Amino acid sequence: MSSTVQRTLSILKPDVTQRNITGAINAMIEGAGFKIVAQRRTQLTRDHAAKFYDVHKERPFFRDLCAIMSAGPVVVQVLERDNAVHLYRELMGATDPKNADAGTIRHAHGKSIDENSVHGSDSLENAKKEIAFFFQDSDIIS
Ligand code: CMP
Repeated sequence: MSSTVQRTLSILKPDVTQRNITGAINAMIEGAGFKIVAQRRTQLTRDHAAKFYDVHKERPFFRDLCAIMSAGPVVVQVLERDNAVHLYRELMGATDPKNADAGTIRHAHGKSIDENSVHGSDSLENAKKEIAFFFQDSDIIS
């Protein structure tokens, strides 16, 4: 990795695997210049989801969020490019798909604020923690 290259953690949520649109979203990710340097399909338990989303534990939507994230398979990914954290949040679009700009993943595929298709790390510091939650260094091949 050169100094400006970053990695961010992406999750394709259960609404994506349920609709079989993993490939369509990966095409948007790759088309926007990200390299998928690690990827795994997995099933989260409620406890696993609760641990991952610990920062939201006091929020009113926390219970629903953990239920939705463990309702079916997810695809966890590490994305790499320059300025990856910020640019992936731009590509995802607003949290609520109703407010997402045209051309974003959530505008194209999001169903609701709860089933908004994708998660992406919100800072470089959190990206490092979130990547370590799902992946070992040796899983990531640039
Ligand atoms: P995500 O980026 O995965 O981070 C937390 C998730 O909580 C978010 O996407 C939404 O799917 C979900 N959520 C539900 N309600 C809200 C809300 N009011 N504000 C933020 N996130 C919400």
